[in-house]
Amino acid sequence: MYDRSLHPQVNAILAQAGMGLEDNLFYARVMANVATLRKLYRELYEEHPLCEQGFEQLLRVIADAARNRPAFLKAKDEQKAQKDHWFLSNEIAGMSLYVDRFCGDLKQLGNKLDYFQQLGVNFLHLMPLFQSPPNESDGGYAVSDFRKVDERFGSLDDLKNLIQRMSESGMYVMLDIVLNHTSHHHEWALRAKKGETKYQDYYYFYEDRRLPDLFEKTMPEIFPESAPGSFTYVEECNQWAMTVFHNYQWDLNYTNPQVLCEMLDTILFYANLGVDVLRIDAPAFIWKQLGTTCQNLPQAHTILKIIKLCVESATPGMALLGEAIVAPKEIMKYFGTDEFTARECDFAYNATQMATQWDALATGDVRLMLASQPDLLQKPFGTSWITYTRCHDDIGLGYEDAAIKQAGFTPFDHRKFIKDFYSGEVEYSPAKGALFSVNPKTQDARISGTLASLCGLEKALESKNEAELELAIRRILLMQACSFFIGGVPMLFYGDELGYTNDYSYLKDPAKSYDNRWMHRPIIDWKKNQKAEKAGTVEHRIFAATKRLLDLRKSLPVVADVKNLYWLTTHHHQHVAGFIRTLGEHKLACLFNFSSQTVHLYTGIIREQGIHGALFDHWKNETCFLEADGSFLKIEPYSFLLLEAR
Ligand code: GLC
Ligand code: GLC
Repeated sequence: MYDRSLHPQVNAILAQAGMGLEDNLFYARVMANVATLRKLYRELYEEHPLCEQGFEQLLRVIADAARNRPAFLKAKDEQKAQKDHWFLSNEIAGMSLYVDRFCGDLKQLGNKLDYFQQLGVNFLHLMPLFQSPPNESDGGYAVSDFRKVDERFGSLDDLKNLIQRMSESGMYVMLDIVLNHTSHHHEWALRAKKGETKYQDYYYFYEDRRLPDLFEKTMPEIFPESAPGSFTYVEECNQWAMTVFHNYQWDLNYTNPQVLCEMLDTILFYANLGVDVLRIDAPAFIWKQLGTTCQNLPQAHTILKIIKLCVESATPGMALLGEAIVAPKEIMKYFGTDEFTARECDFAYNATQMATQWDALATGDVRLMLASQPDLLQKPFGTSWITYTRCHDDIGLGYEDAAIKQAGFTPFDHRKFIKDFYSGEVEYSPAKGALFSVNPKTQDARISGTLASLCGLEKALESKNEAELELAIRRILLMQACSFFIGGVPMLFYGDELGYTNDYSYLKDPAKSYDNRWMHRPIIDWKKNQKAEKAGTVEHRIFAATKRLLDLRKSLPVVADVKNLYWLTTHHHQHVAGFIRTLGEHKLACLFNFSSQTVHLYTGIIREQGIHGALFDHWKNETCFLEADGSFLKIEPYSFLLLEAR
């Protein structure tokens, strides 16, 4: 869409911002996007008295960011553009970590880059680094200053230096923008408390409980145990603030165009630090409307599209990840719909795949995973998943009821079984985890625990049971392998590469004890990590195997996420999840046995996909032995095959 009438306005704003017209590429991008941008902007703010003014301000924010973009980042933008969807590559593998818990601070992290290289990780998600009150922090997701690095981690210069060093060694970086809320210690919140109406308008403030009560009728609770309800009384000014998450996290009010502008400015500020992927925290929540769940509303998508267009115009090398942990049909919308298909978020978390892998591991049955795929396969070309088995958050059982039924189970009972299995209620279960945020009204709950503990390693170590230990390691690798090869950028969670089990020390810290997600956020013990180099240790077995999986992934371009995933149906076997990745002549058949039984799989299901000849297993690095005249493949309990015809 091109609108000639916008031309002079844009030219004037660029001139004011000191952006001559000499940056042709930038100018072309702005002119290509500005009419669409204005259309989206008006969808939100048409009625607002500051609509026109606000739009001009937004254009100024874009122009300033483009002017401030460092030359090395502009060069990188170009390199990325030439690769065409650089982030779909099979050569990117990530790790998410808390800088302080991993190694102390940002400076120290700079000295650990070898560690990642050795493992095969070239992309880091640094958990929130900006200032956050230590006792009311939500792991850094309650930000009191979006531009100041928290002293615990170092300074903004330390961050810039680290990013520079990472960039020089070919690594990518992801940071968060916590868009939905600020800490109640943020300057805006402090001024709102003092009664400044300008800043009260940055939040959702109410004089009495009338509207809050109405809102709460339809808003689900996020932390029903530790932070029930969605509003908090603010004594200082005798008002109620909307607080969907914790009471110390105040929801920002995006019906105020000023808020959007301020946050966009920060987004582009992060882009100019050299962020390669911006993780947009909790985007599902950013628009509220009475009478709705206040999640996944169309206006939230409009805001994301606006962000996308601004980033594409000023800082095009930065990709966007929408952290929407929502039902599969809803997730898909974060990739954009209709004319905006593949023009909203570049990435989303494949939370459904993650949750159904845990489901399959508990039941030994992959039917729910399969039933969930038709929705997930709708992901448009040019977008990708972050694939993962564990992260800093809990595991939600957010798959569709319809999929559970289709898999042959009853939704309520099935979810209850999964919760019991992972939280220690099922006696034979090897898992050691806990329920997170149990809602007494609905019995909804999520699951906490590390990858290793949920896979049985903690119990096996406690009971010194070798056979169980072997199985636990197999489960860990099965879970990781499935998420590494399914398509998307794998995101390991720090500690999982070494089998860290649950850490219960959070219970002694009053700033954390109310939130059992801390049990799976380890403090790294570098003496333990050194065991990764000592053959025979558990750490070595997990680390070496994880590394090999990542190396393999990097060596197989067929794993790049170019809409090249085909699922094998299960009517042959409900224990095995199988899919085929295709690129040109290459086909890779990935088969994962989620059960405790050895499976004999009919080879016909692979042959009929055009995979003929001897079958080479990349994982075992040998040609597969086929049983019964070549008709069957044997897959050991909790094992997998990565097969290519040779
Ligand atoms: C996201 C984060 C989570 C946090 C929440 C509130 O879901 O991943 O850790 O509690 O947002 O910011
Ligand atoms: C938000 C996030 C979800 C997380 C929860 C708290 O709902 O989207 O990932 O489970 O916050 O942990």
